[in-house]
Amino acid sequence: MIRKLAPSVKQYKGYAILAPICVVLEVLCEVFIPFIMTKLVDNGISMQNMQVVIKYGTVMISLAILALGFGLLSARFTVVASMGFGANLREEMFRKVQNFSYANVDKFSTGSLITRFTTDVGFVQMAFTILVRIAFRAPVMLTLSVIMIFFINPIIAIIFLVSIPVVWGSIILAAKFVVPLFEKLFDKFDNLNNRVKENLGAIRVVKSFVREDHETDNFRHAAEDLKNAQVKAEKLLVYAGPAMNILTYIITILVVWLGGIKIMKGEMSVGGIAGTIGYIGQFLMSLLMVAMVFVNLFMSRASAKRVIEVLDEIPTIRDDEADANLKVKEGSVTFENVSFKYKADAENDVLSNINFEVLPGQTIGIVGGTGSGKSSVVQLIPRLYDVTEGSIKVGGIDVREYKIDELRQAVGMVLQNNTLFSGTIEENLRWGDMDATQEEIEKACKVASAHDFIMGFPDGYQSMITQEGTNVSGGQKQRLCIARALLKKPKILILDDSTHAVDSTTERAIRDAIKKDVAGTTLIIIAQRIASVIDADKIIVIDDGKINGIGTHKELMKTNDIYKEIYSSQQGGVM
Ligand SMILES: Nc1ncnc2c1ncn2[C@@H]1O[C@H](COP(=O)(O)OP(=O)(O)OP(=O)(O)O)[C@@H](O)[C@H]1O
Ligand SMILES: [Mg+2]
Repeated sequence: MIRKLAPSVKQYKGYAILAPICVVLEVLCEVFIPFIMTKLVDNGISMQNMQVVIKYGTVMISLAILALGFGLLSARFTVVASMGFGANLREEMFRKVQNFSYANVDKFSTGSLITRFTTDVGFVQMAFTILVRIAFRAPVMLTLSVIMIFFINPIIAIIFLVSIPVVWGSIILAAKFVVPLFEKLFDKFDNLNNRVKENLGAIRVVKSFVREDHETDNFRHAAEDLKNAQVKAEKLLVYAGPAMNILTYIITILVVWLGGIKIMKGEMSVGGIAGTIGYIGQFLMSLLMVAMVFVNLFMSRASAKRVIEVLDEIPTIRDDEADANLKVKEGSVTFENVSFKYKADAENDVLSNINFEVLPGQTIGIVGGTGSGKSSVVQLIPRLYDVTEGSIKVGGIDVREYKIDELRQAVGMVLQNNTLFSGTIEENLRWGDMDATQEEIEKACKVASAHDFIMGFPDGYQSMITQEGTNVSGGQKQRLCIARALLKKPKILILDDSTHAVDSTTERAIRDAIKKDVAGTTLIIIAQRIASVIDADKIIVIDDGKINGIGTHKELMKTNDIYKEIYSSQQGGVM
């Protein structure tokens, strides 16, 4: 576990080492103070010697100031190290998540990933702070204070020694109950974050269906659940403080009582008692701290595990064995006996036995009912998912043999549910090509019939898009997404139902412009409207995850019932 997390500390190693050193120096100063107190009382106050009082007093004050200085330094080093550690850890997790495939993200759920990034890293950070500060402070102080008490009076020291197993035993017993309760908390956190994420992501839908109250109820349940679990877990911990107070009083009474007897017998000095009472606080405090260190480390173990799960997750789509020099030469696409399901343990295939071939520069259409598997087919081409069986070739070579970056650079895809990011229109378009010139950008936008409406905005290409692109219309967004994909100058361009929010005339204009602009690019168009694919070199009809027919519009009109049915249902003027 430590091996996994250690790389994130590396940069702050110096601070992480200096902090405990300062802690030990601080403890050394503190531990001598009650001892000096003994001398001050016995040799100074009891003897009524002002000079001795001043001497020891000065030493005590100097020690206190030194302790304060070291304490401040160690606190500062710890804060820098632990905040830096947390930041590095989050960054490493984020980098890892960027390599996740869709399937990896599906497995964790976004809510759970958010909890891991925030709450869990917080717990791990806390454990780290405890480790560099308290884990050094408490044992050193505990040992030194017992040694000092032995020095003052061995018999009284036995009271302290006896209390160690008592305190420890009860804390370990309590931890046994508390730790599992804390582990359960994280599921509740995930649940809460999932709710918030889903709700905010779909706030428009919530509003249009007037489901605010229902959603608030759902949220309240999740929040109550979390609260109850937290109260249950914390309930036992609140007893720790009062229990510790009682123990302090008991030991103080014992020390004063035993000490009193010893003073009367002349076996101990008044200063000895004063010093011992000074050590009671230090001793019990460090005893409690040692125990708390263990409980805390146990508790954050659950968080550390959840963080490491993210770091250890193996992306289901990898290219470590791919040939870095292999380039996508042309845009042919071949599906050979492809079967696919989203989850390995799912019963039925989503796609089965798909075979077809597209030559470079051809245009093919894919039609079929909703849920028939059209999007699933095209997502396999840039390896957003991997096939379960069979193989897909791009440019005559299996897609798994290319580096993922190379493959995805060659395949432009306008997803069915596409998103824009917060930033200017130009920044969004540059996702397609960071180095595109202004002319290239405008040209792509003209092809996608986006230039005119962009120029209609007061700030043109510099107009701001809000998060998730909510301030442009559905059709405008689709056209920006097409322009963005065109800027990649891909060898294969896939449009997954990308113009359904655009009117038929504009759609036709976009289609014609794309064909002219990217002659040579293989075009794969998924469409609801037959009109969108009527001129394609080949149209594939998908039904229930299988190919029902392949051919030109003319051929399919003769041979394919499903195609004919879709066509005739659209004759009511949709063309
Ligand atoms: N991420 C996913 N995990 C599990 N199952 C999925 C996932 N995405 C889609 N499916 C399922 O796979 C099947 C095919 O879905 P797909 O999205 O390919 O259909 P489609 O033909 O594109 O439909 P539409 O026309 O509505 O876009 C559906 O039964 C769907 O429920
Ligand atoms: Mg789809």
